[in-house]
This record gives sequence, structure tokens and C-alpha cells, in this order.
Amino acid sequence: MNILLIGSGGREHALAWTLSASPLVTKLYCAPGNTGIAAIADCAAIDAMNLDGIVRFAKEKRIDFAVIGPEGPLVAGITDRLEAAGVKTFGPNMKAAILEGSKAFVKDLCAANDIPTAAYRRCGDAATAKTFAATLPLPVVIKADGLAAGKGVIIAATHEEAGDAIDAMFGGAFGDAGKEVVVEEFLDGEEASFFALTDGTHILPLASAQDHKRVFDGDKGPNTGGMGAYSPAPVLTAEVEKKVMARIVKPTVDAMRARGTPYKGVLFAGLMIKDGEPKLIEYNCRFGDPECQVLMLRLKSDLLSALMAARDGVLDTVDLRWRSEAALTVVMAANGYPGSYEKGSEIRGLAEAARVEGVEIFHAGTVAKDGRILANGGRVLNVSAVGKSVAEAQARAYEAIDRINWPGGFCRRDIGWRAVLQENSRP
Ligand code: AMP
Ligand code: GLY
Repeated sequence: MNILLIGSGGREHALAWTLSASPLVTKLYCAPGNTGIAAIADCAAIDAMNLDGIVRFAKEKRIDFAVIGPEGPLVAGITDRLEAAGVKTFGPNMKAAILEGSKAFVKDLCAANDIPTAAYRRCGDAATAKTFAATLPLPVVIKADGLAAGKGVIIAATHEEAGDAIDAMFGGAFGDAGKEVVVEEFLDGEEASFFALTDGTHILPLASAQDHKRVFDGDKGPNTGGMGAYSPAPVLTAEVEKKVMARIVKPTVDAMRARGTPYKGVLFAGLMIKDGEPKLIEYNCRFGDPECQVLMLRLKSDLLSALMAARDGVLDTVDLRWRSEAALTVVMAANGYPGSYEKGSEIRGLAEAARVEGVEIFHAGTVAKDGRILANGGRVLNVSAVGKSVAEAQARAYEAIDRINWPGGFCRRDIGWRAVLQENSRP
């Protein structure tokens, strides 16, 4: 089969790496892809948001199945466009991708279906938002309703800061995404990511993962897209997973089907877990980045068959197997990330690093120039490893990182710390 993967991050490199091993794949294309993906797939320089260009390319290359990585094209309707052109596609259509496209929609869906989540109010103007924020204890959470490239959430320590965030959002700081604002209660606890494939009816949970959102060691500093991840995540015990499925994921999938907009694809529930009780923070309509990288390292079964079964509505025929080993990935980012960062610094030593046992390096933001690898993004590399334990995977990943010579970049040195602590405290 001819496969087309859309996207250009570390998530897509991991997906390409996994898909390229599928016995069903004859030819793997990626648009636009990146330097790492180019080694295992034919990359086409078409932006992920260029829907016309993607549809044209898919028809020209006789693509049998498309896999969509990022949320932007999904929310913009890439699945509807490709399917209309006769290309089977993995990823929710536009009406279902609203689960990531509108935070306000999700909150109302939770309220209507008794899905545990933070108390909230949808606000169409600044005065209403400030009045409601004043009734909540601090900190208070202010969210732009729509897609804001992961930047539309402000955790305000004071009511003044909340007011400023509200004014900024209604003032257009996030464009149309801030036309409506959700003000909500701050949830305390431990965050985890829960992933499930669904065909709109059947639900197949994937392995658990946890990422590290904050930029600095000890989970300090500003929020990022994710500085590293590991799987399995001890906080998602079998018991917690059962609650997540019964109270959050299944009611959501059922409600989406009942309103005539069945959700097909991978559903990523961002959770806050406190005393074994999960609450929904938000949904994403795609794999997490960098969570996907660790899931792909642990997946033993054929990914493509599972994605096709989700698209075709026969997910009940699929059973996924996972390696018992742990996997961990460390994000190397350009100095300055998540603020403004420099581009174009050279990265050396990648081949040496990749030789460490169990290590796989996924590219997220690199460009090749005259035989050199240069940084070309905020999050640049995902140095990943498997190991008998999270501790072993962690040691391998950092051994590889120590072989990378990149003065223009940095990483956290404590990815996986919670799981390692837990492993060490076991008798
Ligand atoms: P989101 O884009 O909704 O995932 O929000 C980004 C990050 O903000 C989340 O990963 C959480 O760390 C944090 N966050 C969002 N909503 C809340 C909340 N109600 N309580 C605590 N933290 C939150
Ligand atoms: N790592 C979190 C995300 O992909 O949104």
C-alpha cells in the first residue's frame, strides 16, 4: 500500500519509523516531513495546512491510506477532504476534531454527560469572565477556546493576572481562538496522558505515558509542548485506567456518536489524577508529542493495521501487544525555548549517540545543510531509549545525549524522575 503521513515533528518521525516497518507498506510518503523522516520516507515539501496541495499529492501518488499527525489540518478538515477524494484517512473529521478545536464544546459535553472535569464557565466577554474568575480560588485557569499552538492556557496566580489574561485574549492575542474564553477551577494532582484508538464505537486503550510539561528540572519554569516522556506511567494504574475509560473516554465516544459526529482516530485525554481519581483537563485529537515516541518504541503489533481498523469501524478485531520494557524520551530544545530561540546552530555527534544500546533518535526540528545537521525549531531532537526499567531507559538516553555536541541546545536532566523514584522505592 502507498501511505501518506502528514506532519513534521518528532511524533511524525516516530510514526514514520513504525509505519516503515509494516509489512503492508510498499511506499511511505511524508508531507512535509523532516531530516530524520527523509531517511525512511519520501518527503514532499507540502505544508501540513495546505489542504489542496495534500489532496492533489495524494491523488497523484495513488495513496491508499493517509495518517494525519498534527491537530491543525484535522481541525481544518483534512480528513473530510481526503476521504471525499477517495483516500482512506486516519484521524477525526472536522466535526469530530472539535474535541480539540473547542475547549468550550468539551466542557459542555462533560457537563451534559457527568464527565469529571474542573468547574468552569464559558465567557463571551471580558466582564463576565472577570466576574466568574473572582468567584474562584487562586490560582485560576484562563483558556482561549480555540487552537492556540499550545499557548492558550494561562494559570493566573492573582486575580489581576487573570484579568490581564482575559483582556489579552479578548484583545486578540490568540486571534479567533480567543473570541470565547473558558474560565476554570485549578486542578491539583499529577498529570498523565491517556490514549485510545476508537472507530466511533469500539475503544482500544493504548499503553500509558506521562510527559513533562515544564521547561526546567524539578517541573519548574514555563509550560512547553513537552520536554520528555516515558511509558508506562505508574500513576495510570489498572484501576485508574478503568475509571478513565468508564467515566471519561467511553461517555465521550458515546456522546459524539449520539450527536451524529462519531469520533474516529486517536483520542488523547489530558488528565489530572488526585488520590486515584481522574479528571479531564482537555482532549487532543491526535497522538501526543513526545508521548507518541515512547508508545511507538513499545508497540510490538502492526500500527498500520490498527489505524486502518479504526478508520474502517472494525477496531473490535484488533488486539495490540506492547513490549514489557519501558521507554523514555528526552527532548533537546534550542536555547531560549519556549521563548524565542536561535535557529541554525550545528548539531554534532548524532551517529555516535545512536550507537548506545536501545537508543533511537527522532528528529523534531532539524534541517540538513551541506552534510551538516542544523537546529531548525524549538524542540529539535527526541533522544529516546528502551530499557528493562524506566531507570535503565533513562540512563541510556542520557548516555546518548552526552555524546551529542550541541552548544546551541539544552535538555532537562530529570525526565522520568517520578517513575524512577517509584522503581527505587520498590522492595
Ligand atoms: P491544556 O492546553 O488544556 O492541556 O493546558 C495546558 C496545561 O495547563 C495542562 O497540561 C496543565 O498542565 C495545565 N492546566 C490546564 N487546565 C488546568 C486546570 N484546570 N488545572 C490545573 N492545570 C491545568
Ligand atoms: N505532549 C503534549 C501534547 O502533545 O499536547
